[in-house]
Amino acid sequence: MAALRGSVRQLGKLNSTFSCSRRGLTTGRSTISRFSKPLLIGGLAAGTGLGWLYKDSFKTTVDEAISAVTPTPVFAAEPPASQPSVFSQGKDHALYLWIHLKPTANVKEVGRACAKLQSLVDKVTDPKMSDESDEIWAGVGFGPNIYKQLGGNPKENYTYAYRKGSLGEMPSSGGDVFIHAKCNTVSKLFELSQLFLNSLPAGSVDNAEDIFSFVYQNGRDLSGFIDGTENPADDDSRQKVAVEKDTGGSYVITQKWIHDLKLISYEKDKTMEGWVGRTRADSIELKKKSNSSHVARMTGGTNFEQKKAFEMVRQSMPFGNVTGEAGLFFIGYTASPENLNFMLDRMVGAGSGGDGVSDDIMRLTKNVKGTYWYFPGVAELRKMA
Ligand code: HEM
Repeated sequence: MAALRGSVRQLGKLNSTFSCSRRGLTTGRSTISRFSKPLLIGGLAAGTGLGWLYKDSFKTTVDEAISAVTPTPVFAAEPPASQPSVFSQGKDHALYLWIHLKPTANVKEVGRACAKLQSLVDKVTDPKMSDESDEIWAGVGFGPNIYKQLGGNPKENYTYAYRKGSLGEMPSSGGDVFIHAKCNTVSKLFELSQLFLNSLPAGSVDNAEDIFSFVYQNGRDLSGFIDGTENPADDDSRQKVAVEKDTGGSYVITQKWIHDLKLISYEKDKTMEGWVGRTRADSIELKKKSNSSHVARMTGGTNFEQKKAFEMVRQSMPFGNVTGEAGLFFIGYTASPENLNFMLDRMVGAGSGGDGVSDDIMRLTKNVKGTYWYFPGVAELRKMA
């Protein structure tokens, strides 16, 4: 019995993964609640090669096991479903596909193609056969102009402003459609990028860039610092930070940063730790940090464990080539663009209450591209079909 409980506990840990692979429309507990317990435990048992768990003769034992692992349900009002990329956890690789359309593009047709993203995902990886190694969690976002043309009515304005500070600029690059997809098999993401671009009306794309990212040294940025220490960790807090309650939509920032790998290779740890505000080896927050350190800029102050002014679900990953350009593809999801504007203003010392101080992180990296997107909720996206 103890062994059985152990196995079932393991299965319990798989809950969020399982729910995401179910056509991936929502993640976390909200999806699980829609499946009956026998289906859930049967599916989990089969999916993990423990099919013997769900035989009639074991029914009583399984019922006991279910009640041992199933928390008492709390029926709170759930926000409308968001797209699968929005607050799900990271995978080994991500696709960032950034598309600019021609002014002559048939926007309604483009919208229709975007609304079918999940069917392309299911073509690349059959949801009935998928497991952790090849399941894909994807989402599509829209620039403000095209979203309006598609009849979208976002609750908030999400215009991305050009910014410049003493350590560099943040160009405003624009863009119409953006795909973010995550998978442990990078070739699946390549296939998805190809299929999606081919699904757009012929001749509608002006230019597009697809970037494939990777996990570096168990979650470090190419600067050697652990990236994500202060990220909201569990599904509930990620959903709260990333998802607009009434729509299931999310406001998203994407920025391409090219690192100065040469400088990173010779600069002293102590110096770079001052720039970031954390130690390099193990991401311990510095007790004393300067007002220009990245952590002080992002939290809004220099105090140790400063109360955060705003939050964001960061899903950034390293990308690039050793022989060419490499850096961080920054992507962050929030429930309101206010969070994004606060952080970008702080990075260049601008905005209302701007102090003119620039973020020291910009000493080791250069921003070459950036914009905001709105990732509509599932119901909003469906309207474009
Ligand atoms: C190449 C550019 C960047 C690099 C290398 C970088 C790296 C880091 C690192 C190493 C940390 C500390 C560990 C952690 O909590 O994750 C961090 C924290 C953070 N970064 Fe960045 N970052 C970059 C750009 C940005 C941008 C553009 C934003 C926002 C628009 C941002 C927002 C944050 C936030 C909110 C935190 C958490 C601060 C805290 O609560 O302590 N970062 N970043």
